[in-house]
Amino acid sequence: MLDLRDYGIEMWDKDKIEAFRKALLDWYDANKRDLPWRRTSDPYAIWVSEIMLQQTRVDTVIPYYESFLHRLPTIEDLAQAPEEVLLKVWEGLGYYSRVRNMQKAAQQMMLEFNGQFPKAHDQILTLKGIGPYTAGAIASIAFQLPEPAVDGNVMRVLSRLFEVDHDIGIPANRKIFQAMMEILIDPVRPGDFNQALMDLGADIEAPVNPRPEDSPVREFSAAYRNGTMDKYPIKAPKKKPVPVFFKGFIIRNQQNQFLLEKNTSAGLLSGFWSFPLIESEPVAQNELTLFQVVEDPHIESPQYTFEKEYQLHVEWKLRNFPTVQHIFSHRKWQIELLEGIVTDKGESLVTDKEMVWVSPEDFHQYPFAKPQQKMWASFQSTLK
Ligand code: ADE
Repeated sequence: MLDLRDYGIEMWDKDKIEAFRKALLDWYDANKRDLPWRRTSDPYAIWVSEIMLQQTRVDTVIPYYESFLHRLPTIEDLAQAPEEVLLKVWEGLGYYSRVRNMQKAAQQMMLEFNGQFPKAHDQILTLKGIGPYTAGAIASIAFQLPEPAVDGNVMRVLSRLFEVDHDIGIPANRKIFQAMMEILIDPVRPGDFNQALMDLGADIEAPVNPRPEDSPVREFSAAYRNGTMDKYPIKAPKKKPVPVFFKGFIIRNQQNQFLLEKNTSAGLLSGFWSFPLIESEPVAQNELTLFQVVEDPHIESPQYTFEKEYQLHVEWKLRNFPTVQHIFSHRKWQIELLEGIVTDKGESLVTDKEMVWVSPEDFHQYPFAKPQQKMWASFQSTLK
């Protein structure tokens, strides 16, 4: 067991811990947010909510949570869902490996746990995609087990309460907060205790513009008392995402159907349908890339590259579209759109790509990730 004093943290005595639990839970009872996953004790539903809430805000999650459970109400439904359904229920949420891992975990539950959500913390931890935070959240909220759920919010709140001088962005430091929580957590209402800290961290103890004077536990807070709120939590600034440049091709046929291609790579946005994208060199915003001579094979214009790679003859249009930007955690995509109409029947000979011609009214049948939604919006914004 880790000794908190080795990390410069003096834990409170028993009475103070009990007073803290009471203050926090009384506040939670009076102020807790009414959220759909707080009206159930179904571990499957709580799991869905917890995975969605990683990296995504509560307001955004609510409609996704409801439609996910409507479409895939049981572990078995999730285990058997075709890839397109899986991507569709997650469309726009990002970090798609989360839902792929959920399906693997559901399949694991079908095989190893009789189709039931396992009730023991160490069994929950064996499920694909479930790490210490999620396992703690499910164990405490669905099964009332006294397990901490340490995420960024909790680390921020604890950093201020105890003036913790360790960077919360360093994964190895998580164990410090885990050890603190094992002592602090309310043994009778662990799920509410964890969620009370989440609510506190989401609002009163927010990363920016906190309102520490409104905190129900301000008298316990060393940073509040000592006027060091600005210093905590300790967190080094994140690295900037690396820019990546693409040409995006909005290509129509004579029937006003658009060319979509399935991303069959194993990487980012694998499995999604997209307007074709070709990675390119960075270009200055004002550089005229639109109309280079396509016929000259020595000039590898994006249009020429496209026609060669997709085996289509295209009549290119001369229009500029707003550049599409999308920021992933480590990448910043910048997409310049090019528009064209195929002049023949549009039957491509390329066999190493999965492509379809789709009318806009049928786009909803194809999983589209955020960058593709933005490409379509940029294209439409210029139509009139
Ligand atoms: N963030 C992560 N889990 C949450 C929960 N159960 N309630 C509110 N916000 C959360």
